[in-house]
Amino acid sequence: MVYFFSKPCKILFMSSPSISRSQPSSLERGEFGERLRTERIAQGYSLADLAQRLDITKGYLSRLELGKAKPALEMIDRIAKVLNIDPGSFQVLAGYLPTDVKQILYRHPVEASEMLRETFGEYEVNRKSTEQGGNGQQPVVRTAELEHTVTNRKNLYEVVHGDCFDWLDHRAPGSVHAVVTDPPYGLKEYTPEEKQKLRRGRGGVWRIPPTLDGYTRNPLPRFTVLTTEDKTELQDFFVQWATKIFRVLVPGGHVFVATNPLVSHLVYIALEEMGFEKRGEIIRLVQTLRGGDRPKNAHKEFENVTVMPRSSWEPWGLFRKPCEGRVQDNLRKWKTGGLRRLSEEQPFSDVIKSSPTRGSERDIAPHPSLKPQAFMRQIVRAALPLGEGVVLDPFMGGGATIAAACAVGYHSIGIESDLEYYQMAAQAIPQLATLQN
Ligand SMILES: C[S@@+](CC[C@H](N)C(=O)[O-])C[C@H]1O[C@@H](n2cnc3c(N)ncnc32)[C@H](O)[C@@H]1O
Repeated sequence: MVYFFSKPCKILFMSSPSISRSQPSSLERGEFGERLRTERIAQGYSLADLAQRLDITKGYLSRLELGKAKPALEMIDRIAKVLNIDPGSFQVLAGYLPTDVKQILYRHPVEASEMLRETFGEYEVNRKSTEQGGNGQQPVVRTAELEHTVTNRKNLYEVVHGDCFDWLDHRAPGSVHAVVTDPPYGLKEYTPEEKQKLRRGRGGVWRIPPTLDGYTRNPLPRFTVLTTEDKTELQDFFVQWATKIFRVLVPGGHVFVATNPLVSHLVYIALEEMGFEKRGEIIRLVQTLRGGDRPKNAHKEFENVTVMPRSSWEPWGLFRKPCEGRVQDNLRKWKTGGLRRLSEEQPFSDVIKSSPTRGSERDIAPHPSLKPQAFMRQIVRAALPLGEGVVLDPFMGGGATIAAACAVGYHSIGIESDLEYYQMAAQAIPQLATLQN
């Protein structure tokens, strides 16, 4: 296998928003400018290019970036639109309070201020320091709801163009804390021949998009075409893969692996054979257009028959590398072994209501298997029980896992072997990460 090249990609988020003042301080203006500059560079605009798109002078754009001019709300909206970024976070960085946030604060003054204090304030830091016996200087762990607006996401992720098997061989043992991934199941569907057919929109294991009720379906791989030989190959693939991820994971590290009801058993057996413990299965409840069809070319004759159930869920295998000693020992030493709770009252749960990936996400990353942010953020968040460590997605695709990790403030690494998808992910991650759920 060929080892391509590793290209670190810098993170694009800047610092913490101020919540309530309407006149920006110089610091806040600096934050807005810094964020604007980072986004501009990440999206490949020169000062002149972006100024032209915004219909302003290069000098004015430069003053905005340097924090020397205060942008009007209308200008912020224009910038956000061109850069495809949520205008709310830009408004906050520039010292404005977005209308919807203002309404929430006015309608729920007590709950809102408590929630903010718990999330960003002293209470959270103190509680963490007590739990860890630390000095209170640890970074604050954020709650899922506010994560897309949080601080200092610099250097949070790295994306690599390469073959994950080779990459895993070069990675230091015990240097990854969780794996969250959606592998290429049919094995066939991501071969160069099949990808070429997909890109040409013609046949292969990828279904040609049929239309239904005026909507065009996205192409989907057909798992029912796998032969016995394909299945053996699939299992061998996962045995090899499991051996390699077992080596790089720390004890107690979890693996969340997306699968489908037709082949999940093959994957699960491979992981168990390689030493992982099965810890359950996450059920992503999602209505798809897969299955539910009448017999081909005999619809009328067998109108009350369906060949396969209409698929309404997607299984994600949940595995763990065995802990060293008790879970509490492992948590102390390796920061892994458990799953992060939703809150003090609510544990992470194994059924998650979801929807197909939104059009707005597909527009940002038009990968044929892109997973939705709303779902990915929930599982990625659960994968690091203390919010510390590195999440790996060895089959990164359009970057949904890495964007989700960014959104929840986790460090992550994504590997993708296809150059086009790698470039797509590198560009899409910052944008996906800022989308509101
Ligand atoms: C099912 S897709 C992942 C989609 C991803 N979850 C997303 O939301 O965009 C699997 C990806 O793995 C990539 N891939 C296949 N074999 C690989 C390998 N050996 N190393 C790295 N990436 C690989 C494929 O090119 C494909 O983009």
